[in-house]
Amino acid sequence: MKKNKLVSKRKGIVLAGGSGTRLYPNTLALSKQLIPIYDKPLIYYPLSILMLANIKDILLISTQKDITNFQYLLGDGKNFGLSISYAVQDRPEGIAQAFLIGENFINNNNSALILGDNIFYGSGLEKVLSAASDKPEEATIFGYPVENPHRFGVASVNNGKVTSIVEKPKITASNIAVTGLYFFDNNACSKAKELAPSKRGELEITDLNLSYLKDSRLNIHLFGRGFAWFDTGTPEALVDASVFIRTIEQRQGLKICCPEEIAWKKGWIDDDKLQSLANNFQNNSYGQYLEKLLKEKF
Ligand code: DAU
Repeated sequence: MKKNKLVSKRKGIVLAGGSGTRLYPNTLALSKQLIPIYDKPLIYYPLSILMLANIKDILLISTQKDITNFQYLLGDGKNFGLSISYAVQDRPEGIAQAFLIGENFINNNNSALILGDNIFYGSGLEKVLSAASDKPEEATIFGYPVENPHRFGVASVNNGKVTSIVEKPKITASNIAVTGLYFFDNNACSKAKELAPSKRGELEITDLNLSYLKDSRLNIHLFGRGFAWFDTGTPEALVDASVFIRTIEQRQGLKICCPEEIAWKKGWIDDDKLQSLANNFQNNSYGQYLEKLLKEKF
């Protein structure tokens, strides 16, 4: 099989903190981003998206309480051909705070931030991610039409250009939610430092995006029909996402956001490594799937 060994210099951040109160008691003892979505922990989905964007150097930010569980699950990332480091966010003081916590890690490079509870799925996604990644001096956000935009950052778009973004507006100017995936140039940390906390006491990612909009350096890619985006903020949304993943995976016999598969297909881990990972789950369908990849080499 032809392996794509492309690696981006862009640094990746997965933000997986927060208190998860909307999911209590599910999240009293377990981080929200470790809850299973069908056959794998939620965190595998956003992690896989960074991998599909060819990003190998990743910082995972979570709470003091939860960070050891992520370390237990993902270690240093080598099983997925990655380098994963960890940082603690003491309190959920906003998504844009990731750029203060992650400043040394980003080290003046371009970056991509993904929220640890966001799931993306659709044909052609890798091309969309590459296009965003290839814009080194700009920022790219991703819009998705939703039924209930007031729960999200909402973008107004004219001729493919963002004209405004409002965080959780009471009256919505469009149905386009800004999803939890953001590509920034190397100014994100300095811009984040200039942000003031919002009324709810958070450094808002919407304000960081607005700062790029002010500089006319904010692009938006709109995901259309046939694309799926879930933010898994409620028990209902968790079940919807699980059922969706199960339906597609069972129909096609292909897994969605399986980091071992992505790493192997990109040539970041070799056949022997994949075999040893398959051996860890010998008695279940996840391990059998990894084994099947090696046999069929599709
Ligand atoms: O999911 C997309 C939406 O995410 C965007 O449309 C909004 O513009 C953006 O503000 C955000 O809205 P949410 O209401 O979903 O944000 P929430 O506070 O629920 O945080 C999203 C995830 O990020 C959640 O899993 C917890 C994590 N988080 C959040 C904050 C504020 C942290 O790890 N640290 C934080 O400080």
